[in-house]
Amino acid sequence: MALSIRNLNAALGAEISGIDVSKPVPQPDIDAIEAAWRERLVVVFHGQTLSDPQLIAFSRNFGELDSPGPNPYGQPFLKEHPELNVISNVVENGKPIGNLGDGEAVWHADMTYVDVPPKAAMLHALEVPPPEAGGNTYFANMFEAYASLPADLKRAAEGKIAVHDASRNSAGMLRKGYQEVTDVRATVGARHPLVRADRRSGRKALFLGRRPNAYVLGLDVPDSEALLDALWAHATQARFAMCHQWTVGDLLMWNNLSVLHRRDPFDPQTRRVMHRSQIKGDERIA
Ligand code: SIN
Repeated sequence: MALSIRNLNAALGAEISGIDVSKPVPQPDIDAIEAAWRERLVVVFHGQTLSDPQLIAFSRNFGELDSPGPNPYGQPFLKEHPELNVISNVVENGKPIGNLGDGEAVWHADMTYVDVPPKAAMLHALEVPPPEAGGNTYFANMFEAYASLPADLKRAAEGKIAVHDASRNSAGMLRKGYQEVTDVRATVGARHPLVRADRRSGRKALFLGRRPNAYVLGLDVPDSEALLDALWAHATQARFAMCHQWTVGDLLMWNNLSVLHRRDPFDPQTRRVMHRSQIKGDERIA
């Protein structure tokens, strides 16, 4: 089987075929996947049957794994593999087996509320609702979003630092151990520049993380809200995005520092089970 890479007809994304990632992957193929991930920001594999140890082993080709952020229940979902996260609406014996439920997961990048956020995440579909039941996932290209910003917004964002809220996950659930934010000036979480320069290419990208409870340091709250609203409205336009409709066995890997993603709500009567790894970042955002 020869590895083949086909760009999706969108502002980002590439489909990779001719590979079974449950087996050890030769280094030249890892290099090709990494290059596609750098360039196209999201890579999509279909038909991958992976156990948790196989998902972990494939993920480790790209770096050390990061533990998932704290979830609302205060305990890892997979006791045997705490380095994996479970994204699911399924409740067994009265206990959710995973995070985020069946509602919308709003636009966000993963774990940007820490100082060194993961550089990549991988999501593997084990059970998915039928296509008409919802649950599609969208990714938006933050290089393109920055490049096409109107000049006044570019100027307004340049040099500004924002706080990325740690208290709630992308489904709006309060994480265990966190307080409700009542004043965005007191939001708890890492502080990062609104504009990031890619370490290798120097290309600039918007780095927005998550909208709820964000605050731009040094601005009055109404000015901070207005700037963030304008940047978010620009960055989340369909022209910068791709949509992924899931099939069991899909594996997606995204460039967490260069994209935002969101998920549609889906029919609560259906089951959706996905396992996710996060690959440690190795840079402060600058
Ligand atoms: C996530 O934000 O990692 C979950 C995306 C999804 O459920 O499709």
